[in-house]
Amino acid sequence: MTYQSEYSRSIDHPEAFWADKAAALDWFKAPTTILSRDENGMERWFADGEMNTCHMALDYHVANGRGEQVAIYYDSPVTASRRAITYRELLDQVAKFAGLLQQQGVVKGDRVLIYMPMVPEAAVAMLASARLGAIHSVVFGGFAANELAVRIEDAAPKVVVSASCGIEIDRIIAYKPLLDEAIATSSHKPARTIILQRPEAVAELQSGRDLDWQEAVASAPAADCTSVLATDPLYILYTSGTTGKPKGVVRDNGGHAVAMKYSMKAIYDMNPGDVFWAASDVGWVVGHSYIVYAPLLAGLSTVFYEGKPVRTPDAGAFWRVVSDYRVKALFSAPTAFRAIRKEDPESLCLQGYDLSCLKTVFMAGERLDPPTYHWVKDLLGVPVVDHWWQTETGWAICANLMGVEPMPAKAGSATLPAPGFNVQILDESGAPVGPNEQGVVALKRPLPPGCLPTIWGDFNRFYEGYLSTFEGYYVSGDGGYKDEEGYVFIMGRTDDVINVAGHRLSTGEMEEVLAAHPAVAECAVIGVACSLKGQKPLGLILLKDGVEIDAAALQAELVASVRHKIGAVACFKEALVVSRLPKTRSGKILRKILRQIADGDEYTVPSTIDDPSSLAEIADVLARSGFSKGEVA
Ligand code: COA
Ligand code: AMP
Repeated sequence: MTYQSEYSRSIDHPEAFWADKAAALDWFKAPTTILSRDENGMERWFADGEMNTCHMALDYHVANGRGEQVAIYYDSPVTASRRAITYRELLDQVAKFAGLLQQQGVVKGDRVLIYMPMVPEAAVAMLASARLGAIHSVVFGGFAANELAVRIEDAAPKVVVSASCGIEIDRIIAYKPLLDEAIATSSHKPARTIILQRPEAVAELQSGRDLDWQEAVASAPAADCTSVLATDPLYILYTSGTTGKPKGVVRDNGGHAVAMKYSMKAIYDMNPGDVFWAASDVGWVVGHSYIVYAPLLAGLSTVFYEGKPVRTPDAGAFWRVVSDYRVKALFSAPTAFRAIRKEDPESLCLQGYDLSCLKTVFMAGERLDPPTYHWVKDLLGVPVVDHWWQTETGWAICANLMGVEPMPAKAGSATLPAPGFNVQILDESGAPVGPNEQGVVALKRPLPPGCLPTIWGDFNRFYEGYLSTFEGYYVSGDGGYKDEEGYVFIMGRTDDVINVAGHRLSTGEMEEVLAAHPAVAECAVIGVACSLKGQKPLGLILLKDGVEIDAAALQAELVASVRHKIGAVACFKEALVVSRLPKTRSGKILRKILRQIADGDEYTVPSTIDDPSSLAEIADVLARSGFSKGEVA
């Protein structure tokens, strides 16, 4: 099989292609309708298929001789503990936890919100929800109470599953007070919370609402799988958009299972029994897809790592885990490798580890910059694959298909479109551009299985944000180009979304927090280049007339409010006071130019600018604060 034959078939004969891939899974009723449209006119896969994702991921493997194989390796340097959980043990835990959820009244279609650190119980809760045909929504542990409240409000969960704490290197983050605050703020009140007590910080439970996980599960009956339609939602995962309100990306059961199973072999070249490690967090899409669902659907062993690439305890953490569990493929974000390189430039921490098991390193979350690509490739001597994807798609849009036909890599490129993704570069009018010309990266519909069919409760937001710009296309929000061989180069977002340490954040949301400060008249948050985290947010503040405030004190207050409202993960650390913000004559702040100036890039002064002299003034403020001045083209 060649890449070209596989890819062409997926585009020319999508129904036959995906029907074949679907046959690799254990359906209750195999789909006969492969591609159809739903009531919104959106293409849907496998509409009449009946199934259960948890059955495909666990029961199927236990029934087929994989019960004693390790499903999850839990490795937690922050608690100095490890555990290996077999498929049989995981199934038992999941069935009992599903029984507990059922006792709390959870039925098919109900939402279960999960706010947990990187412990295997997070996967237990996700799979238990799937087992009942309920819809889980996992919230990343680094988000503050307000972000959690917004998600509780939108998803309206019947039950919230959480833990007493998470651990950031040596800092205990008590989750329960954040959860209590979020529930108090939200107008939706979940009927029940189930709290995993961790010895590092035991939470106080509110009688009548909070249950202790261990106590409650002890007497719960095991629950069986509920059959759902392929098009029924499996989960909602909130991601940053351009406004303050996060978008609830909906993932269905059938398309997701097919895409996960297929990609595990086609992209990652993993076979049943292999060990796969996605060094991410269950709170992100990478964690959903490649820590939990795809490895289990494919019968692999997956590593749950509760630690960092550095400082837990040193820059050798990745190498230790790979060597200890004989990891065949490692998936992480470029920022993690930049952090390792920074702490251990001579790679002294690598010594003594046997990494002969490691066949490939995969990276995503942000563009893999060529220096990091070369450093990792030279250091480990294995292929390093940059692949591009988004929460919305659930799996890689562009990649080097290591399990089909590995192609020669090009530094800076995410290689070629994955099967099912018809990637086009369009100009502002929606016409395709030629090789090496930059444009909007769009996907010609239908999107392949696994991609979002809607935004939770708001199809119109999905339509307006992604589908309405160019008829027949999904617009990704990224800009880039293809070279003459069709290799795709993703150059960055064309909207107000930034990527900080592989975490997707909304500058619009940060601006809303800054604008709420009584001294702030107007503000802009831009993502500026950062050699460690890829990008970092920078606030530019215009004060209200007559306000006198010390700039350092203002910055400290603004930093604290972003940390409180959004979370430490926003990494908002700098705010500069300016006397004007460059705007168009219609009043739109020219954020792109601000970014170009701060990054020292060339920029063109647009003819629509209201007051060109504001640019020089901003450039001076930025230069005085250690940023560059940029160059007028
Ligand atoms: N719970 C609570 N706080 C969290 C958190 C969590 N789950 N995750 C991060 N934070 C906090 C951090 O402690 C830090 O707080 P601080 O400002 O008080 O130091 C802040 O959020 C910023 O976190 P981060 O940007 O992750 O910085 P870091 O210095 O802790 O770690 C890296 C840097 C590069 C090691 C880390 O970001 C990393 O491993 N990134 C990879 C991301 C990834 O896997 N993305 C998914 C795509 S593959
Ligand atoms: P998320 O939804 O958190 O996965 O973030 C998706 C965004 O991250 C994309 O729209 C890109 O902007 C960026 N991204 C992810 N992977 C890559 C990559 N390999 N190359 C360039 N950008 C990437």
